[in-house]
Amino acid sequence: MKPKYVIAGNWKLNKGPSETSVFVRDLSDQLTHEVKNSIDIIVAPPFTSLPFAKASGIYIGAQDVHWEDKGAFTGEVSAPMLKELGVQYCIVGHSERRLYFNETDRMINLKTCTLMRNGIKPIVCVGERLEERKAGLMNNVVRFQLSAALFDVEIKRPDDLVIAYEPVWAIGTGDVATPQQAEDMHEVIRQYLEKHFGINTGSEVRILYGGSVNTDNIAGLIEKDEINGALIGGVSLDLAKFISIIKTVTEKER
Ligand code: PGA
Repeated sequence: MKPKYVIAGNWKLNKGPSETSVFVRDLSDQLTHEVKNSIDIIVAPPFTSLPFAKASGIYIGAQDVHWEDKGAFTGEVSAPMLKELGVQYCIVGHSERRLYFNETDRMINLKTCTLMRNGIKPIVCVGERLEERKAGLMNNVVRFQLSAALFDVEIKRPDDLVIAYEPVWAIGTGDVATPQQAEDMHEVIRQYLEKHFGINTGSEVRILYGGSVNTDNIAGLIEKDEINGALIGGVSLDLAKFISIIKTVTEKER
C-alpha cells in the first residue's frame, strides 16, 4: 500500500504562542476535511508554542527532545512532557542541531529511541554536506547516519517512523535538489530500510524531502515514487504558500 503523504512545517525559531494559535486556526479552517484526511499535515513550532498549536486535522510536531525522561538537565524537555501536551511527531537530528549544537549520531539515536518508547513519531533527518556530495560520498554518509540513528530501533508499524532526507546544501539556500537527485537518495534510504526492517515495514516508512521546497518545485518532487512528502522550513511560515503546497500534494493523492 502506498503510504499517506506528509507535509510538515519546521518553523525553527519563529512564531510565539499568539502567532501560532492564529496560524493553525486559519490553516485548519481553510482546508476541507477531505484534504486534512487525505494527507498528514504537521506543524512544528518552538517548544513554548506547542500548547497553542492544537487545531482540528493538524498534527503537532516538536523540533527536539532530550533522551532522558527527567533529571538534572537544565533547559531540556523530555518525551513524556511532549506527550502530555499532545505532541505526535518530533524532528530529530536536523542539520542545524548537528552543526550549531554539536548533536552527535549517538544523541540522535537516543532521542529516536525515547520518542518511540513514548509513542511520538520521530522525523529523523539525514543528509550530506556539499563537499561530501562533490566527493561522491553522499550515499555512504546517509547510510552511516541511518545506521547510527536507527541503532537498536524496533519499528512496530511503518508509520511510527519518518525519515527526512535534507541535503545540507539545500537547506535555506534556495538551491533545491533536483527531483532526480532526491529520488536517487530516497532509493538508497528505502533499500536501507527494507534491508534492516524487512520488506513490509521498510517499503512503507515515509521518506520526506527537505531543503528549499517551495510552491513552484513541490509538484516536480512529489511526482517521484519514493518521495512521500516534504519537510519545509522558510516557506511553511507563510500560510498561503503552505496551503498551496498542501493542495498540490493532495491533488497528487487523488
Ligand atoms: P528550508 O528548510 O525549507 O527553509 O530550506 C528546511 C528545513 O530546514 O527543514
